[in-house]
Parts: sequence; structure tokens; C-alpha cells
Amino acid sequence: MEIVVLALVAYLLGSIPSALWVGKLGYNKDIREHGSGNLGATNAFRVLGIKAGIIVTLSDILKGTLATVLPLLFDVSVHPLIIGLFAVVGHTYPVFARFKGGKAVATSGGIILGSFPILFVIMISTFLLTLYLSKYVSLSSMITGVVSILLSLFYQDLVLIIVISCLTAFVIYRHKDNLKRIKNGTEPKIKWM
Ligand code: G3P
Repeated sequence: MEIVVLALVAYLLGSIPSALWVGKLGYNKDIREHGSGNLGATNAFRVLGIKAGIIVTLSDILKGTLATVLPLLFDVSVHPLIIGLFAVVGHTYPVFARFKGGKAVATSGGIILGSFPILFVIMISTFLLTLYLSKYVSLSSMITGVVSILLSLFYQDLVLIIVISCLTAFVIYRHKDNLKRIKNGTEPKIKWM
């Protein structure tokens, strides 16, 4: 029962549509109608600018991290990543934004930060290096996911390996339009790195 409550809280936390609310409240813009239309940090950078992008990135990461802290906070015996997964589901299918959310990247990162911080640091480094080389945020997200599966094998934690593998498959699935755009050369590259 306690686990169900934590999962629900994590889902609601993940459902907070940072990109939508920052856009609407701070810039009077619905970012679903601009750029890629995605409710994520990348589109917030693209449509609203650096300051909003940073706020959305940090909020989306924080949602995942807070969800993984819930079991410890309420002394419930469950793997933090399991509860974290519900935040990722909330971020992707948010009850507060008609179930159309982001592509699961930042909040997935947040749940890794909350449970395996060193792995998170390696993942961020992988992401930044790939971004520097490719200039594609979407590609960097997917490559980081694949690399993180390999990295997870070094941990003696089956839940981590399974969760990271499932999340990577899900992140790639959520980027199917980006993959098409990369293939036909229409995926936007970042200009500031
Ligand atoms: O991988 C990052 C993801 O947020 C891509 O977003 O807006 O370029 O489709 P977008």
C-alpha cells in the first residue's frame, strides 16, 4: 500500500510540466506550439532561451531525483529506481498537460542522480562530449542511454540494469521523429557549443 502511495506521489511530481508552466507563466508562450512542440528542456532552450532552458532542465532533473528520495524519506523498503520510474512516466504522460509530455531524458537522468550519483556524472560527461561532437541533443541523449546500459553492468544491481535498459529503449522510442529528422538532415543542431 505504501509503495502504491509513493508511486502515485512520484507520478504527480513527474507530471509537473515545467516546460509548459515556465513558458506560459514567464514568457506567455505555449512551447507546444513552437519549435519541436516537445514539452522538454531542449525545446525550452530553443523557444524560450538559455535562462528558461536551464530552469526547465534543473526542474525536470529534480522531479526524478526527488522521487527517488521518497522511499528513504518515508522509510519504505523499495528500490528508489522503481519509484523514480513513476516520475519518468509522469514526465512523459503528465496528468497536468493532457498526458502529452517530454521525451523522458532529463527526468530519467534525475532518477539516476538520486540513486547512483557517480553514474550520473559519467552519463552527463558522455552526453556533453557527444553533444560537442555531434551538435544533436537528441542523438546525444540516445547515445548516453546506450552507454549507460554498458556502465550499469559494472554495478551489482539487477534493478539498475533492467531499469536503465528499459529507459534507454523508451527514450529511443520517444525520439523516433528525431531519428527520422537526423536521417533526412532536418534535425536542428545546437549553435552554442
Ligand atoms: O533528447 C532531448 C529531447 O528533449 C529532444 O527534444 O525538442 O529536440 O525534439 P526536441
